[in-house]
Amino acid sequence: MNLYMLIKRVSSLIIDSEYVVVFTGAGISAESGIPTFRGKGGLWEKYDPAEYATVDALRKNPLKVWKLYIDIYKTIKSAKPNDAHIAVAELERMGLVKFVITQNIDDLHERAGTRDIAKIHGTYNVLRCDNCFYKEEINTEKLSFELPSCPKCGSPMRPDVVLFGEPLPKDAFNRAIEEAEKADMLIAIGTSGVVVPAAWIPFIVKDKGGTIIEINLEASNLTPIADISVFGKAGEVMRKILEEVKQQLGRG
Ligand code: OAD
Ligand code: ZN
Repeated sequence: MNLYMLIKRVSSLIIDSEYVVVFTGAGISAESGIPTFRGKGGLWEKYDPAEYATVDALRKNPLKVWKLYIDIYKTIKSAKPNDAHIAVAELERMGLVKFVITQNIDDLHERAGTRDIAKIHGTYNVLRCDNCFYKEEINTEKLSFELPSCPKCGSPMRPDVVLFGEPLPKDAFNRAIEEAEKADMLIAIGTSGVVVPAAWIPFIVKDKGGTIIEINLEASNLTPIADISVFGKAGEVMRKILEEVKQQLGRG
């Protein structure tokens, strides 16, 4: 099938499905200028994850974790949602997308208008204390290359994001599983599908007989279970899908 036919097919499947869940990864934010983790130009080329993004690193060398975090923080802060985030939010407003599960710590889905979302890897603009569990939104004026300390107990604060070796936030992950169990269709956008347990989510939908749609620049770990893979840029593909859905519904 050519791209046009694929878009038509995916759009009619979205309209005909009962409960569509969207599952996103770093690739959906790539066109907003936020680098992905893997692949050419990815963050893991610049930072070795073992040294900068693990629980071990946080214990032994927290300043390194902090350095990577500040880099990501600044990039996210100045980024804007792209056509893919906007299309996902519009499909939610139209009642066609019921829920978004994201592995991304950025807030581009929310800024695009998505309301129902589970952020299973945490969020970039919150700091927490692992000693007394105090949490606060990051104060950009205080952002420096020194670790902030907890205003309640004085322990060092850390970003409220999931590092390698850590469990996922329970509430968000449970909600994600609940939603996946309800879904008869999942659209995976811009994820390599290699990091578990997040990457199990599409398999929950597949196991229940749901349809899996994948949008990615190239083949991924999810390609073998995808009913349809659309290879292209998330922003362009999702914009076309939204246009086609509106056309098919006679709102074009
Ligand atoms: P990855 O960096 O592993 O994968 C990004 C995917 O997006 C790849 O499959 C790319 O081909 C695809 N991609 C890149 N640009 C794209 C574009 N413009 N349009 C469509 N697709 C594009 O990112 P994730 O799958 O999100 O975990 O990685 C999963 C987790 O690994 C992250 O959440 C993070 C990382 O370690 C934690 O921080 C815990
Ligand atoms: Zn504390």
